[in-house]
Amino acid sequence: MKSDIPQKKTILRLYNDNFQNYKRYNIPKSQLVIADIPYIIGINAYAFSPEWYVRGDNKNGASRKAGKAFFGTDTNFNIAEYFHFCNRLLKKEPKEKGKAPCMIVFCSFQQLNTVIEYARRYGFRHYIPLVFCKNSSAQVLKANMKIVGATEYGLVLYRDKLPKFRNDGNMVLNWFLWERDGKDIPRIHPTQKPIKLLKQLISIYTDPGDAVIDPCAGSGTTLRAAYELGRSSYGFESVKSFCEAAWERMLPDAEPYRPAEMVEQTSLFVEG
Ligand SMILES: C[S@@+](CC[C@H](N)C(=O)[O-])C[C@H]1O[C@@H](n2cnc3c(N)ncnc32)[C@H](O)[C@@H]1O
Repeated sequence: MKSDIPQKKTILRLYNDNFQNYKRYNIPKSQLVIADIPYIIGINAYAFSPEWYVRGDNKNGASRKAGKAFFGTDTNFNIAEYFHFCNRLLKKEPKEKGKAPCMIVFCSFQQLNTVIEYARRYGFRHYIPLVFCKNSSAQVLKANMKIVGATEYGLVLYRDKLPKFRNDGNMVLNWFLWERDGKDIPRIHPTQKPIKLLKQLISIYTDPGDAVIDPCAGSGTTLRAAYELGRSSYGFESVKSFCEAAWERMLPDAEPYRPAEMVEQTSLFVEG
Protein backbone atom coordinates (compact mmCIF):
# COMPACT_ATOMS: atom_id res chain seq x y z
CA MET A 1 0.00 0.00 0.00
CA LYS A 2 1.28 3.44 -0.87
CA SER A 3 1.97 5.59 2.19
CA ASP A 4 0.60 9.16 2.32
CA ILE A 5 3.54 10.24 4.47
CA PRO A 6 5.91 12.17 2.19
CA GLN A 7 9.24 10.32 1.97
CA LYS A 8 12.30 12.46 2.61
CA LYS A 9 14.46 12.55 -0.52
CA THR A 10 18.00 11.26 -0.09
CA ILE A 11 20.37 13.95 -1.32
CA LEU A 12 23.83 13.38 -2.78
CA ARG A 13 26.01 16.43 -3.41
CA LEU A 14 29.69 16.92 -4.04
CA TYR A 15 30.76 20.56 -4.28
CA ASN A 16 33.93 21.40 -6.15
CA ASP A 17 34.88 23.98 -3.58
CA ASN A 18 36.83 24.44 -0.36
CA PHE A 19 34.85 23.43 2.69
CA GLN A 20 35.61 26.92 4.06
CA ASN A 21 33.08 28.25 1.52
CA TYR A 22 30.21 26.19 2.93
CA LYS A 23 27.99 29.24 3.46
CA ARG A 24 27.40 29.41 -0.29
CA TYR A 25 25.42 26.20 -0.08
CA ASN A 26 22.36 25.26 1.86
CA ILE A 27 23.68 22.33 3.88
CA PRO A 28 21.68 21.00 6.83
CA LYS A 29 23.37 20.32 10.14
CA SER A 30 24.46 16.71 10.15
CA GLN A 31 24.58 13.71 12.46
CA LEU A 32 28.08 12.71 11.36
CA VAL A 33 31.05 14.49 9.81
CA ILE A 34 33.50 11.93 8.54
CA ALA A 35 36.73 12.81 6.78
CA ASP A 36 40.11 11.64 5.85
CA ILE A 37 42.15 14.80 6.32
CA PRO A 38 45.34 15.35 4.28
CA TYR A 39 48.29 13.69 6.01
CA ILE A 40 50.61 16.56 4.96
CA ILE A 41 53.33 14.11 4.02
CA GLY A 42 54.37 16.40 1.17
CA ILE A 43 56.84 15.31 -1.45
CA ASN A 44 57.91 12.01 0.05
CA ALA A 45 54.52 10.35 -0.05
CA TYR A 46 55.86 7.25 -1.81
CA ALA A 47 59.00 6.87 0.31
CA PHE A 48 59.48 3.20 1.25
CA SER A 49 56.86 2.13 -1.29
CA PRO A 50 57.86 0.08 -4.35
CA GLU A 51 55.93 2.67 -6.39
CA TRP A 52 58.95 4.98 -5.98
CA TYR A 53 60.64 2.85 -8.70
CA VAL A 54 59.62 1.93 -12.22
CA ARG A 55 57.70 -1.38 -12.01
CA GLY A 56 58.53 -1.51 -8.29
CA ASP A 57 62.22 -2.36 -8.80
CA ASN A 58 65.06 0.02 -7.93
CA LYS A 59 67.16 -1.43 -10.78
CA ASN A 60 64.72 0.33 -13.15
CA GLY A 61 65.30 3.75 -11.60
CA ALA A 62 62.91 6.26 -10.10
CA SER A 63 59.30 6.39 -11.29
CA ARG A 64 57.05 9.43 -11.87
CA LYS A 65 55.94 9.13 -8.24
CA ALA A 66 59.44 9.52 -6.74
CA GLY A 67 59.70 12.74 -4.73
CA LYS A 68 56.02 13.57 -5.30
CA ALA A 69 53.09 14.27 -2.99
CA PHE A 70 49.99 12.05 -3.06
CA PHE A 71 48.06 15.01 -4.43
CA GLY A 72 48.75 18.72 -4.95
CA THR A 73 46.85 19.79 -1.85
CA ASP A 74 48.74 17.45 0.53
CA THR A 75 51.13 20.21 1.54
CA ASN A 76 49.11 22.35 3.93
CA PHE A 77 45.85 21.96 5.74
CA ASN A 78 44.28 24.32 8.25
CA ILE A 79 43.13 22.03 11.04
CA ALA A 80 41.66 24.88 13.12
CA GLU A 81 39.40 25.85 10.21
CA TYR A 82 38.48 22.22 9.80
CA PHE A 83 37.23 21.95 13.40
CA HIS A 84 35.49 25.29 13.16
CA PHE A 85 33.59 23.93 10.14
CA CYS A 86 32.72 20.68 11.94
CA ASN A 87 31.48 22.52 15.00
CA ARG A 88 29.20 24.71 12.86
CA LEU A 89 27.86 21.93 10.66
CA LEU A 90 27.34 19.16 13.17
CA LYS A 91 23.95 19.11 14.92
CA LYS A 92 23.84 20.84 18.26
CA GLU A 93 24.01 18.71 21.38
CA PRO A 94 20.44 17.37 21.89
CA LYS A 95 18.65 17.35 25.26
CA GLU A 96 17.92 13.61 25.03
CA LYS A 97 20.41 10.82 25.48
CA GLY A 98 21.42 8.60 22.55
CA LYS A 99 20.99 11.19 19.80
CA ALA A 100 24.19 13.24 19.94
CA PRO A 101 26.20 13.75 16.74
CA CYS A 102 29.88 12.88 16.35
CA MET A 103 32.72 13.14 13.91
CA ILE A 104 35.20 10.58 12.64
CA VAL A 105 38.64 11.69 11.48
CA PHE A 106 41.01 9.38 9.64
CA CYS A 107 44.54 10.60 10.26
CA SER A 108 48.13 9.43 10.49
CA PHE A 109 49.54 8.14 13.77
CA GLN A 110 51.70 11.29 13.96
CA GLN A 111 48.62 13.53 13.66
CA LEU A 112 46.64 11.91 16.50
CA ASN A 113 47.80 14.27 19.28
CA THR A 114 47.28 17.38 17.17
CA VAL A 115 43.79 16.26 16.15
CA ILE A 116 42.83 15.49 19.77
CA GLU A 117 44.12 18.87 20.93
CA TYR A 118 42.37 20.92 18.21
CA ALA A 119 39.15 18.94 18.69
CA ARG A 120 39.22 19.81 22.41
CA ARG A 121 39.63 23.52 21.62
CA TYR A 122 36.47 23.37 19.48
CA GLY A 123 34.38 21.60 22.11
CA PHE A 124 34.96 17.96 21.17
CA ARG A 125 36.35 16.91 24.52
CA HIS A 126 35.95 13.16 24.18
CA TYR A 127 37.47 10.66 21.81
CA ILE A 128 37.63 6.98 20.97
CA PRO A 129 40.74 5.83 19.07
CA LEU A 130 40.19 3.61 16.03
CA VAL A 131 42.67 1.29 14.31
CA PHE A 132 42.25 -0.09 10.80
CA CYS A 133 44.23 -3.25 10.02
CA LYS A 134 45.55 -4.08 6.55
CA ASN A 135 46.93 -7.41 5.42
CA SER A 136 49.87 -5.84 3.58
CA SER A 137 52.19 -2.87 3.89
CA ALA A 138 53.13 -0.10 1.47
CA GLN A 139 56.39 0.44 3.36
CA VAL A 140 58.26 -2.68 2.26
CA LEU A 141 61.32 -0.68 1.24
CA LYS A 142 61.96 0.56 4.78
CA ALA A 143 65.32 -1.22 4.72
CA ASN A 144 66.26 -0.65 8.35
CA MET A 145 62.92 -1.68 9.74
CA LYS A 146 61.79 -5.15 10.61
CA ILE A 147 58.30 -3.99 11.51
CA VAL A 148 56.48 -2.16 8.75
CA GLY A 149 53.27 -0.16 8.97
CA ALA A 150 50.07 -2.00 8.06
CA THR A 151 47.58 0.04 10.05
CA GLU A 152 45.71 3.29 9.63
CA TYR A 153 44.30 5.36 12.47
CA GLY A 154 41.26 7.38 13.26
CA LEU A 155 39.32 9.04 16.05
CA VAL A 156 35.66 9.27 16.92
CA LEU A 157 35.25 12.73 18.48
CA TYR A 158 32.23 13.99 20.39
CA ARG A 159 31.26 16.87 22.65
CA ASP A 160 29.61 15.81 25.92
CA LYS A 161 26.89 13.24 25.39
CA LEU A 162 27.76 9.81 23.98
CA PRO A 163 26.95 9.77 20.27
CA LYS A 164 23.97 7.97 18.76
CA PHE A 165 25.08 4.35 18.46
CA ARG A 166 23.42 1.67 16.35
CA ASN A 167 24.53 -1.91 16.40
CA ASP A 168 21.46 -3.69 17.75
CA GLY A 169 22.80 -3.02 21.22
CA ASN A 170 25.99 -4.99 20.56
CA MET A 171 29.40 -3.59 21.35
CA VAL A 172 31.88 -2.78 18.59
CA LEU A 173 35.62 -3.43 18.87
CA ASN A 174 37.81 -0.42 18.13
CA TRP A 175 39.72 -2.14 15.32
CA PHE A 176 38.39 -2.81 11.85
CA LEU A 177 39.63 -4.89 8.95
CA TRP A 178 40.71 -2.78 6.01
CA GLU A 179 39.23 -4.76 3.13
CA ARG A 180 40.06 -3.23 -0.22
CA ASP A 181 37.20 -2.49 -2.60
CA GLY A 182 36.60 -4.80 -5.55
CA LYS A 183 36.60 -3.94 -9.25
CA ASP A 184 33.03 -2.61 -9.01
CA ILE A 185 34.38 0.51 -7.28
CA PRO A 186 36.44 2.91 -9.46
CA ARG A 187 39.96 3.75 -8.34
CA ILE A 188 40.24 7.55 -8.44
CA HIS A 189 42.24 8.88 -5.50
CA PRO A 190 45.75 7.93 -4.23
CA THR A 191 44.49 7.74 -0.64
CA GLN A 192 41.01 6.36 -1.36
CA LYS A 193 39.21 4.72 1.55
CA PRO A 194 37.30 1.44 1.15
CA ILE A 195 33.52 1.86 0.76
CA LYS A 196 32.77 -1.24 2.86
CA LEU A 197 34.67 0.20 5.84
CA LEU A 198 32.95 3.58 5.47
CA LYS A 199 29.57 1.84 5.39
CA GLN A 200 30.38 0.02 8.63
CA LEU A 201 31.25 3.31 10.37
CA ILE A 202 28.27 5.21 8.95
CA SER A 203 25.88 2.41 9.99
CA ILE A 204 27.17 2.50 13.57
CA TYR A 205 26.67 6.24 14.09
CA THR A 206 23.66 7.19 11.94
CA ASP A 207 20.17 6.08 10.88
CA PRO A 208 18.66 6.17 7.39
CA GLY A 209 17.46 9.73 6.76
CA ASP A 210 20.32 11.32 8.74
CA ALA A 211 22.77 13.64 6.99
CA VAL A 212 26.49 12.88 6.66
CA ILE A 213 29.15 15.40 5.57
CA ASP A 214 32.66 14.78 4.21
CA PRO A 215 34.56 18.11 3.98
CA CYS A 216 37.57 16.50 2.22
CA ALA A 217 35.73 14.14 -0.07
CA GLY A 218 38.47 13.12 -2.56
CA SER A 219 36.90 10.52 -4.83
CA GLY A 220 33.52 10.73 -3.06
CA THR A 221 33.74 7.35 -1.30
CA THR A 222 32.06 8.58 1.91
CA LEU A 223 29.26 10.21 -0.07
CA ARG A 224 28.62 7.05 -2.04
CA ALA A 225 28.69 4.86 1.08
CA ALA A 226 26.25 7.16 2.90
CA TYR A 227 23.91 7.51 -0.09
CA GLU A 228 23.74 3.76 -0.65
CA LEU A 229 22.73 3.42 3.01
CA GLY A 230 19.87 5.93 2.60
CA ARG A 231 21.67 8.84 4.30
CA SER A 232 21.85 12.25 2.60
CA SER A 233 25.45 13.15 1.93
CA TYR A 234 27.23 16.42 1.26
CA GLY A 235 30.91 16.75 0.41
CA PHE A 236 33.55 19.27 -0.58
CA GLU A 237 36.62 18.66 -2.70
CA SER A 238 38.88 21.48 -3.80
CA VAL A 239 40.64 19.63 -6.65
CA LYS A 240 38.60 19.85 -9.86
CA SER A 241 39.97 16.66 -11.45
CA PHE A 242 38.99 14.55 -8.40
CA CYS A 243 35.49 16.04 -8.49
CA GLU A 244 35.09 15.40 -12.20
CA ALA A 245 36.19 11.78 -11.84
CA ALA A 246 33.91 11.37 -8.81
CA TRP A 247 30.84 12.82 -10.58
CA GLU A 248 31.47 10.67 -13.61
CA ARG A 249 32.49 7.35 -12.08
CA MET A 250 31.86 7.22 -8.31
CA LEU A 251 28.66 9.25 -7.95
CA PRO A 252 26.69 9.07 -11.19
CA ASP A 253 23.52 10.07 -9.28
CA ALA A 254 25.05 13.34 -8.09
CA GLU A 255 24.46 16.62 -9.84
CA PRO A 256 27.78 18.41 -10.46
CA TYR A 257 28.08 21.45 -8.18
CA ARG A 258 30.71 23.88 -9.29
CA PRO A 259 31.08 27.40 -7.98
CA ALA A 260 30.68 30.03 -10.71
CA GLU A 261 34.40 30.49 -10.44
CA MET A 262 36.77 28.61 -8.21
CA VAL A 263 37.82 31.50 -5.99
CA GLU A 264 40.68 31.54 -3.56
CA GLN A 265 39.99 29.69 -0.31
CA THR A 266 37.96 31.95 1.98
CA SER A 267 39.26 32.01 5.52
CA LEU A 268 36.61 31.09 8.05
CA PHE A 269 38.04 33.52 10.51
CA VAL A 270 37.75 36.76 8.58
CA GLU A 271 34.00 36.38 8.11
CA GLY A 272 33.24 37.22 11.72
C1 LIG B 1 43.08 12.30 2.11
S1 LIG B 1 42.19 12.90 0.78
C2 LIG B 1 40.59 12.19 0.91
C3 LIG B 1 40.42 10.90 0.15
C4 LIG B 1 39.01 10.34 0.28
N1 LIG B 1 38.75 9.92 1.63
C5 LIG B 1 38.74 9.20 -0.67
O1 LIG B 1 38.38 8.09 -0.23
O2 LIG B 1 38.88 9.41 -1.89
C6 LIG B 1 41.88 14.55 1.29
C7 LIG B 1 41.26 15.42 0.22
O3 LIG B 1 40.94 16.68 0.79
C8 LIG B 1 41.05 17.67 -0.22
N2 LIG B 1 41.15 18.99 0.45
C9 LIG B 1 42.21 19.53 1.09
N3 LIG B 1 41.91 20.74 1.60
C10 LIG B 1 40.59 20.97 1.27
C11 LIG B 1 39.68 22.04 1.51
N4 LIG B 1 40.07 23.12 2.20
N5 LIG B 1 38.42 21.93 1.06
C12 LIG B 1 38.02 20.84 0.34
N6 LIG B 1 38.85 19.79 0.06
C13 LIG B 1 40.11 19.85 0.53
C14 LIG B 1 42.30 17.24 -0.97
O4 LIG B 1 42.34 17.80 -2.28
C15 LIG B 1 42.17 15.71 -0.96
O5 LIG B 1 41.62 15.22 -2.15
